[in-house]
Amino acid sequence: MNPINYNQSAALLERAKKVLAGGVSSEFRKYNHPHALFYTHGKGTRIYDVDGNEYLDFTLSQGPLILGHSHPEVTAAIADYSRTGQLYAGQHLKEIELAEKMQEIIPSAELIRFCLDGSTAVQTAFRVARAKTGRDKFIRFEGHYHGWLDNVCWGNAAASLEAMGERTQPVSNGWSKGLANASKEESILLPWNDLELVEKTVAEKHMEIAAIITEPVMCNNNCILPGEGFLQGLRDICDRYGIALIFDEVITGFRLGLGGAQLYFGVVPDMSVFAKAMASGYPISAVVGKKEWMHLLENGTVIHAGTMNSGNATIAAALTTIQVLERDKPYERLFALGKYFMEGLRKAAAATGHTILVQGPGPMFCISFTAKQSVDDYRDSFSCDKGQLSRFIAGMHDRGIRIIGRGLVYISTAHKKEEIDHALTVAEKVFKAI
Ligand SMILES: Cc1ncc(COP(=O)(O)O)c(C=O)c1O
Repeated sequence: MNPINYNQSAALLERAKKVLAGGVSSEFRKYNHPHALFYTHGKGTRIYDVDGNEYLDFTLSQGPLILGHSHPEVTAAIADYSRTGQLYAGQHLKEIELAEKMQEIIPSAELIRFCLDGSTAVQTAFRVARAKTGRDKFIRFEGHYHGWLDNVCWGNAAASLEAMGERTQPVSNGWSKGLANASKEESILLPWNDLELVEKTVAEKHMEIAAIITEPVMCNNNCILPGEGFLQGLRDICDRYGIALIFDEVITGFRLGLGGAQLYFGVVPDMSVFAKAMASGYPISAVVGKKEWMHLLENGTVIHAGTMNSGNATIAAALTTIQVLERDKPYERLFALGKYFMEGLRKAAAATGHTILVQGPGPMFCISFTAKQSVDDYRDSFSCDKGQLSRFIAGMHDRGIRIIGRGLVYISTAHKKEEIDHALTVAEKVFKAI
């Protein structure tokens, strides 16, 4: 059924605003079309809102639902394991099984700690890096997202290209008010995919630098692939100067393959962070890494804690998700389906006189309205027509296709070719309409 109105959601949003700040529990949820919406249930590739609208879902809850909504094996495993208990302030068997599985499939995962979300896992990796190197700062890249905590809120968003300053000396803009000023000093901001600039910066400042953190694919802005040799170049620089290379695999993990981007690109970081697709929507993340770094967590030199870590439901969700992925081997199909969708969008746009760019590896990709042949770093993304993108996303949404507002598309193992064909038919209509 095509959505015709959002009246019930609008009414619930007004009610929610009286008790929840802004009516939501995460900033990004405000930016749904036409406003924050309220959902009743999700199944497979579909999600349903309180107005009875059904959407073919390509947001997958911002990435986690790699098996689609409410995967029966995952929900059954959670129900079963939760019946035995919820949280022990102690260890349990499936926690070891999950860690053993991750150790087996992720190249850098010699030792592992579980956390609740990507943001805290990133901070755990920073702490380990600082403890081992005795240095304080980390290099991060423009437009990458590493969570919402203070020290990574600098440099991930800018109001305009001008606000970003010179390319060789970027200005670190804060994403939020209320950030501790001192937290700005923790990072050195650089444009992505510019190895020469990283080399130069590290040569000058290596005595201050504990870590380099990167999304291996810059998923959060335009889904940009790393330039030829860039990740290996970071690896070499980190080796030369004793710096921790941290891959933020919150999106790429279990999405590019079971071994994450590190196996896909053949570059092994010192530590990495997994979350999202790891557990079908349950709150668990992992910081994994080589023993020579992670051993600091073994003897309490570095403290990592959390009352809610590795509860039964989250461990069962992750273990089952990974087991299903391992059994079903969906990756070739996910890549093919994504590429088919990407190519179809390009054709639909061309047929209707639009110039768009669709880029990304396939299991996730990004749509933007720009005449550029490729967007290679965050600065390039300012060339994209965000107004036109919003009209496209809104048009798709009003016709029952749900895509993340910044043009990011996620494919799940539940999506079928016929559904992609349907989305493409709708996309062509929307292109014509805008
Ligand atoms: C690459 C990346 N790192 C870290 C995070 C933060 O993860 P979380 O929202 O689970 O704290 C995100 C969230 O979108 C992300 O995309």
